[in-house]
Amino acid sequence: MSIRTAVVTGGGHGIGRALCRRLHRDGATVVVVDVDAVAAEKVAAEIGGVARVVDVADEAAIGKLVDDVEQEIGSIDFFVSNAGVGFGDGESGAISAAGGFHPVDDRWDACWRINVMAHVYAARALVPRMLERGGGHLVNVASAAGLLSQIGDAAYSATKHAAVAFAESLAIDYGDRGIQVSVVCPQAVATRMIGIEDDFDAVNGGFGGNDVDGIMRAEDVADIIVDEALGGRFLILTHPQVATYFQRKANDHDRWINGMQRFRDKMKG
Ligand SMILES: NC(=O)c1ccc[n+]([C@@H]2O[C@H](COP(=O)([O-])OP(=O)(O)OC[C@H]3O[C@@H](n4cnc5c(N)ncnc54)[C@H](O)[C@@H]3O)[C@@H](O)[C@H]2O)c1
Repeated sequence: MSIRTAVVTGGGHGIGRALCRRLHRDGATVVVVDVDAVAAEKVAAEIGGVARVVDVADEAAIGKLVDDVEQEIGSIDFFVSNAGVGFGDGESGAISAAGGFHPVDDRWDACWRINVMAHVYAARALVPRMLERGGGHLVNVASAAGLLSQIGDAAYSATKHAAVAFAESLAIDYGDRGIQVSVVCPQAVATRMIGIEDDFDAVNGGFGGNDVDGIMRAEDVADIIVDEALGGRFLILTHPQVATYFQRKANDHDRWINGMQRFRDKMKG
């Protein structure tokens, strides 16, 4: 199937930027959505796409985005909810409400709205349209942290688990009615989210060793995402080792927790 109109949230940087480039190479008109207007414009100019400044946590803005794109460009056949945030809330950060300001609750709230509700808002706007016209792709970027948990970031882990569960519900409810749902669960990818600037070659530049478990380039991750989504896969594991870790967790959850505690101590050391 060829994609005619694609929307990628968080398209200004990292995995989203690589997805925009790949979808453009495949012949799609790509709408680059980001809160970072400069980055979105830059990517859109490079690929002859369209930039839209939208906060994905704002349901009305997502609804307007979908309306505008469908009126001005065409029916959206591939929507990637890729924008995401993580704050590294640390060992006790997630359960503290330090001071009177509750800064940590703000972080939980941002993770919830951007990592989960943005996927719900996109589905709400698109599922009825896709059902009516007989199909479409919804690709939700979660994380390996949505299957395995991110050491040192409870809010990220909990919301990415919720994102995986939401995608499962979407696939169960609509997957046999023409809507292809995919959820993407990468481990480390060389992007600003893990402190690596967009054009730094992390794999050859020193971040690719044993300190990071199989760090990947955003471009390679984007290719796997598009290929596997078009191939009809629900769970897209860009890093094959995640399948093994996930199986180990399912086989013996208590043993897996013990292993994660040892891994946490090793990381601290
Ligand atoms: N980099 C990794 O190691 C890694 C691993 C697993 C999953 N992920 C997930 O991949 C996705 C993409 O992350 P990335 O690594 O490319 O990070 P990134 O920080 O390079 O890119 C994220 C993009 O999302 C945009 N964004 C953030 N909040 C937004 C909002 N409210 N509305 C619109 N745009 C917003 C940012 O401006 C940025 O352009 C995220 O969902 C992330 O959780 C990343």
